[in-house]
Amino acid sequence: MGKDVIIACDFPNKEVCLNFLSRFTDTKPFVKIGMELFYSEGPDIVKEIKSRGHKIFLDLKLHDIPNTVKKAMSVISRLDVDMVNVHAAGGCEMMQSAVEGLIRQDGTRPIIIAVTQLTSTSEKMMQDELLINRPLSEVVMSYANNAKKSGLDGVVCSPLEADLVHAMCGREFLTVTPGIRYSSSSAGDQKRVTTPARAKQLNSDYIVVGRPITASSDPVGVYNQCMFDFVG
Ligand code: C5P
Repeated sequence: MGKDVIIACDFPNKEVCLNFLSRFTDTKPFVKIGMELFYSEGPDIVKEIKSRGHKIFLDLKLHDIPNTVKKAMSVISRLDVDMVNVHAAGGCEMMQSAVEGLIRQDGTRPIIIAVTQLTSTSEKMMQDELLINRPLSEVVMSYANNAKKSGLDGVVCSPLEADLVHAMCGREFLTVTPGIRYSSSSAGDQKRVTTPARAKQLNSDYIVVGRPITASSDPVGVYNQCMFDFVG
């Protein structure tokens, strides 16, 4: 898998999303469908976007008992998505079950990655509210290691952690990194942010870019800039 830019299509409904995607006439960007759009439109939105030729990362961040996650993943896998995810906080047994559930009859399955700690989580929040009394980077590395041991393909993490994850889990273990911004003044709720060029230097495999593209008056221009800076 080569490097790519994934657009986070965090839109309220199908109409807004398809209007947005129709602006991309020369390329078919890899898109991420998250909870907002999926819960609003259901599985049909996945089929619709797939039929338009886009690769899809279905970002539903599953986190439940192993059996429930396995069953849910087998349904998701039939939607022919390219990438899915779980929360590593669900533990190794849950992650192994997720992989099992994803395997299709023909032996193929989507890429599956684990969320380590959300990029909106600061070390202070993690320690004060989640009562995880360790440095954030140690927690991210430990969760990444659990994901690798459980047979997952990679993790969602901050670009700032990508190199460390590769050092521990191998260069082939994918790092999918949100928290991308061109200027820190527009970080919004993201706490740990970097530019596309910096994410490339840090060896991130995929960057996930939402509002910098979707809220721009020139989304195609910003997407092309991200591709240029990140993929080259
Ligand atoms: O708009 P923005 O660029 O902040 O969008 C980032 C996207 O990546 C959002 O859809 C968010 O849900 C997702 N994400 C994240 N941090 C994670 C996992 C997913 O920001 N750790």
